[in-house]
Amino acid sequence: MKKAIALTILLASLASCSNSDTYDDISTPPETVTPPITDPSIITYTKDVKAVIDANCIGCHKSGGAASFRPLTTYAEVKAAVQTAQLLDRIQLQNGQEGLMPKTGRMSQANIDLILKWNTDGLKN
Ligand code: HEC
Repeated sequence: MKKAIALTILLASLASCSNSDTYDDISTPPETVTPPITDPSIITYTKDVKAVIDANCIGCHKSGGAASFRPLTTYAEVKAAVQTAQLLDRIQLQNGQEGLMPKTGRMSQANIDLILKWNTDGLKN
């Protein structure tokens, strides 16, 4: 995908060098080509992860909850839990295994995969 964008930019800049350019064309700075910022296949906290955490975790992981010491109510908190509190390991444990999160039972594989892909995609907000 990045290669395709780079190629497009390259071709576009080559095309702008054609002989038909007038003086006006070349004296105007070329428009900056901005690559698309939002690739819908990239998992982000705001778009995808927050809803899963809100539905499955914050009952306990918020102030006043059973796990208030480790709130999971903001992007920074959830990212920190992935990086420093083995969140990814804990959600992948099987039912009955010590440490599984949510404590109440394993989430759907789709939810688990979504959070794993969020990590692979760079833990974007
Ligand atoms: C029913 C309450 C409850 C729910 C729901 C719950 N947790 Fe927990 N969680 C706890 C408790 C209590 C602890 C502390 C004891 C332990 O580590 O097992 C904990 C610990 C953790 C820890 C380790 C924190 C640390 O600093 O060591 C992580 C990570 C975690 N939970 C993630 C999650 C995620 C992600 C979800 C939702 C997918 C979730 N939890 C849902 C109660 C819950």
